Amino acid sequence: MEHNQHGFPEGFLWGGATAANQIEGGFREGNKGLNISDVLPGGKERLKILMSPGFNFEIDNEKYRYPNHEAIDFYHRYKEDIALFAEMGFKVFRMSIAWTRIFPNGDELEPNEEGLAFYDRVFDELHKYGIEPVVTISHYEMPLHLVKEYGGWRSRQVVTFFERYATSIFNRYKDKVKYWMTFNEINGALKMPIMSMGFSPQNEEVRYQQTFQAFHHQFVASAMAVKTCKQIIPDAQIGCMILFAPVYSYDSNPENVLYALKEEELFNYFCADVHVRGVYPTFIQRFFKEHSVELEIQDGDLELIKEGTVDYIGLSYYMSRTDKKVKAEEEKANGNIVGGVKNPFLKASDWGWEIDPVGLRISLNKLYGRYQVPLFVVENGLGAYDQVEEDGTINDDHRIDYLREHIKAMEEAIADGVELMGYTSWGCIDLVSMSTGEMSKRYGFIYVDKQDDGSGTLERKPKKSFYWYKNVIATNGEQL
Ligand code: BG6
Repeated sequence: MEHNQHGFPEGFLWGGATAANQIEGGFREGNKGLNISDVLPGGKERLKILMSPGFNFEIDNEKYRYPNHEAIDFYHRYKEDIALFAEMGFKVFRMSIAWTRIFPNGDELEPNEEGLAFYDRVFDELHKYGIEPVVTISHYEMPLHLVKEYGGWRSRQVVTFFERYATSIFNRYKDKVKYWMTFNEINGALKMPIMSMGFSPQNEEVRYQQTFQAFHHQFVASAMAVKTCKQIIPDAQIGCMILFAPVYSYDSNPENVLYALKEEELFNYFCADVHVRGVYPTFIQRFFKEHSVELEIQDGDLELIKEGTVDYIGLSYYMSRTDKKVKAEEEKANGNIVGGVKNPFLKASDWGWEIDPVGLRISLNKLYGRYQVPLFVVENGLGAYDQVEEDGTINDDHRIDYLREHIKAMEEAIADGVELMGYTSWGCIDLVSMSTGEMSKRYGFIYVDKQDDGSGTLERKPKKSFYWYKNVIATNGEQL
């Protein structure tokens, strides 16, 4: 790729992104087992409920509604959806494989043929239109059995189960999938371990010990997956996936600047350092000492981590985070998952996520400056209410404005010298929100007639942004 160029390089990977649990539905079809998102109730309190002490990880249809069970029924409608992606000109489609379609409980010895066959059909359909799949191996879809019986990623045994799962899908799809990522937003577990690690620390005292031990297991599993992937699919590219929200110091008080730096190291860089450089960063040793973290590391783990480094960094970017060392309750930013205080220079979405396209340019520069490996923006987008007009049109100019500014920021980052592989905007078709379970928090270019109460026909309808994005792709980002 040519550096410091204006515009987008030839072969730039334009597309959209999803996750199995948020689109597929068919939660009991094809021998699929239950996963963590299958016990997530709908509503803004869903993550609190999941993390509450004593939560039994059972489905209780009397008490709750479960929007992920049907989601948008991609399981049955994937042909129609992929045809629409093709109409927009997608070069790639980011999706995840549901671990429980392949290993329903997670600890079986043999994979489930019906699950494997489903993704064969999806990949074939994508290739019919020349769309390359970009596959996340684990996106908030951990088998529930591994959560209940093994305590999630706290258990070393899960490494073996994951390796079996990853090896099965590499073998099966070696001719169909060339772009892979291991764990979605791996660093997000520092804020919310339940969705990706399958446990909530028992108390504050053991929080870091348990979380970092689970990270260690995931690093080993990721490195094994990278090595196996390279053996089975030599022309594959396999990346990690980081939730990146650059941390701005609230002001020039050195205490706040230092605080922002340390938060950034821990939250934004720690996992990426291990994945990309293949070693634990030195700054984490002090953190471990101060929080009494003692990792159990088996012989060969560190060598494996060194050998299994990733080819690229996939990142999600939704917002920046402004922060200070001591903050009053009323200063805290509302609604976002990364914390911090309100930034007076930024507007926020209806869900309180601050909108900061310049922050994307900053993020890409920071990451590329630190690692010099290709970057891939695999999530970015605006969760917003959409209005269906009387004539049936959906004029989502707010979304177009948001995406335009973020795409411009990527273009600037490329001109800055950043090596950027592609862009898959999040929720290219409306899907179930991860944090709230709402359908009304819509991200898509394609409207899905499904409402928060579960009603709706599931009919698909292109929004105004559909035609806008189609032209963006057709002109390789020249016409925004
Ligand atoms: C990312 C996740 O954190 O943000 C997605 O990888 C999620 O799964 C996306 O859907 C947007 O968050 P939300 O809560 O608006 O769905």
